[in-house]
Amino acid sequence: MVQEFDRVGVVGLGTMGAGIVEVFARAGFNVTGVEVDDDALRRGRSLLENSLSKAVSRGKLTEDEQRAILNRVSFAISREQLGDADFVVEAVPERAELKREVFTDLDRVCGRGTILATNTSSLSVTEIAAFTSRPDRVIGLHFFNPAPVMKLVEVVSTVVTDPEAVTLGTEVAKRVGKTPVVVSDRAGFVANALLVPYLNHAVSLYEHRLASRTEIDNAVTEAAGLPMGPLALFDMIGLDVGLAVLDVLAAEFQQPRYVAAPLLRRMVAAGLHGRKTGRGFYDYA
Ligand code: CAA
Repeated sequence: MVQEFDRVGVVGLGTMGAGIVEVFARAGFNVTGVEVDDDALRRGRSLLENSLSKAVSRGKLTEDEQRAILNRVSFAISREQLGDADFVVEAVPERAELKREVFTDLDRVCGRGTILATNTSSLSVTEIAAFTSRPDRVIGLHFFNPAPVMKLVEVVSTVVTDPEAVTLGTEVAKRVGKTPVVVSDRAGFVANALLVPYLNHAVSLYEHRLASRTEIDNAVTEAAGLPMGPLALFDMIGLDVGLAVLDVLAAEFQQPRYVAAPLLRRMVAAGLHGRKTGRGFYDYA
């Protein structure tokens, strides 16, 4: 069935959405990327174009391949353009009311057979599915940052998901070169339930001045051999995203290890969200 898939929609072209467009277009799908207005669309298009140009300059992609990939991508500022999509991935900011608006629209615009997927990392896929009249055809498809690089995709199944939709989600993930893992709809799914408390712990160590930010990061990269230290990684995934994950973990499981470090909450309140805002634990200006 997945072979018949061709037209993919991606709603929201921020860091994750633009990366997801790239993943699908590189794998040969025709992708329509949707944003709310021309400015947001321009930003999303630049993220995609810059990522592909970087790949060309590193000799990982030819200019012909870059052109072919870009030719498979179209852009729109109306969700109405997704009427013929076979598969839609939503990657808008993590606000329930925004997800409701997007899924209500997608449910109205897309054919009954279309699978609607959310890239949410902190909201309940079950609740998002309930915004539609087809909760059995709604799944989570959780990519990791940077989406074009990271292999894991969590395929999130809810208590009402049609098993066929889960199979389709895993097949689509494989077809775009990813490694799917099917998980239940619980706060943090699997990867973030493990990863984000560790990042939060690093913030606590920094807040309590156990070591400097670079010493904390170097301790992990040098000793544990991970590609990035926790504070640099937190800046990359977004402090706001990490805080949202911690808050749902704390609310769902009521355990002290999920309580956000006070410094993290203050930094998010101050707009220091990491790379995307130019400042987090490090400066990116
Ligand atoms: N987009 C596309 N490609 C990218 C990229 C991006 N944003 N960033 C890096 N790459 C590519 C590079 O082009 C390069 O490709 P080649 O090997 O083909 O040349 C490759 O990735 C390695 O990049 P670099 O050599 O520039 O740098 P690096 O070796 O330091 O790797 C990294 C960068 C891939 C980000 C690496 O540091 C890493 O794996 N970090 C950990 C990332 C991680 O843990 N992500 C999960 C976060 S959790 C999450 O996302 C879930 C959530 O819901 C919060």
